[in-house]
Amino acid sequence: MWAGRFSKSLDQKADDFNSSISFDSRMYKQDITGSMAHASMLAKQGIIATEDCEKIIDGLAAILADIESGALEIDMGCEDIHMFVEAELTARIGDAGKKLHTARSRNDQVAVDIRLYMRDKSEEIIALLKELIEAVTEQAEANKGVILPGYTHLQRAQPITFGHHLMAYAMMFLRDISRIKVAIARMNYSPLGSCALAGTTYNTDRMFAAEKLGFDGITRNSIDGVSDRDFCLELMSDFSIVMMHLSRFSEEIILWSSWEFSFVELDDSFTTGSSIMPQKKNSDMAELVRGKTGRVYGNLMALLTTLKGLPLAYNKDMQEDKEAIFDSVDTVAICLEVFAPMIKTMKVKRENMYRAAQKGFINATDLADYLTKKGMPFRSAYKIVGQIVAECIEKNCVLDTLSLEEYKKHTDMFEADLFDEISLETCVSKRISAGGTSVGSVEEQIAYVKEELSK
Ligand code: ARG
Repeated sequence: MWAGRFSKSLDQKADDFNSSISFDSRMYKQDITGSMAHASMLAKQGIIATEDCEKIIDGLAAILADIESGALEIDMGCEDIHMFVEAELTARIGDAGKKLHTARSRNDQVAVDIRLYMRDKSEEIIALLKELIEAVTEQAEANKGVILPGYTHLQRAQPITFGHHLMAYAMMFLRDISRIKVAIARMNYSPLGSCALAGTTYNTDRMFAAEKLGFDGITRNSIDGVSDRDFCLELMSDFSIVMMHLSRFSEEIILWSSWEFSFVELDDSFTTGSSIMPQKKNSDMAELVRGKTGRVYGNLMALLTTLKGLPLAYNKDMQEDKEAIFDSVDTVAICLEVFAPMIKTMKVKRENMYRAAQKGFINATDLADYLTKKGMPFRSAYKIVGQIVAECIEKNCVLDTLSLEEYKKHTDMFEADLFDEISLETCVSKRISAGGTSVGSVEEQIAYVKEELSK
């Protein structure tokens, strides 16, 4: 490829070290599509002849078809996918193939390819997120009235509905989608035609090629067009946030599946046994998702660090972007693919959730509210209820089983209606504030999410 300037070929080790084809070959389709648009632009502008353009486009289409059918194997001896496609084209169509690289450099070529590739992959991840949200919403709908303790500091706090808890995740994943969409929109400008860094002396029409490739416009500075990978960082940050959400969900599923909680049971098809302990049913999928969060964060850090301090414009360091970002998209995709059906098939142990809600004084806030509504300042009510809780702990009973007589010893504002006020059902059904835990509020949340998904 470097014929002319060099008299010796590259040392074998250095050649292997320099090569990226083992990982960038996955962009063959984007590389070919980008080249087709470039060839069309060259012909439209009269930079190459129409017959040459036709040969190039037919040749590229045949290469694409042959790669996809398996008839053509990508030659791992080439430096990268760009070199392979060009060499294969020239081998097939001769001199016309040598004209493709007019008014272009691998620097803008690779910058286009990654954008096209990431646009496709990000759309796939959005579709997977939607499937997960659907699974979560389905479970929320089926369990909208199921009462369990809500936690803060992992201490039982207030009664909530399981539908409410699940819909919290639906909201997070919905925001993940919108974050990725924003990143795609910001990335969707074509650097093609930036060439090596300075632009070109040919009379190109960058906008024409950009439109053919579905971009919203062109990058406005050719040095920036070939130098920056901020769009990779942005998507990798978005993917890291998806993983962070998934890992929190995973952690809860792992806890809920333990004997200690016993709130849910994962389907056999999403759990594993132990090679030695016959009783075990492990939530390996959730644990792996939690674990894989680390590598997605790591990829982001790796690329941030690679790009730090790089002088403009292209530097070979930037070839390191691909393994990091490819690993991130692969990891997020596989995690989502496993997670959605795992949630869909998860069995909810309603009785255990309810039993847990009966312990831990999670209706204490409601008891304090009861006194407050009768005219007692909240802080005074808070103190009295604290004393009552202490008394219950001592007597080994709960707020619901302490007698009215004993309540009255604290203040005669207590009446028999207190028991109804602090029942778990009341605690939940009265929390009708927007976004709250009552069945009605959860139904509104479900309707909102469904509406957003249909957009
Ligand atoms: N394989 C290279 C990469 O991924 C393509 C760009 C090469 N450009 C260059 N000036 N060596 O970054």
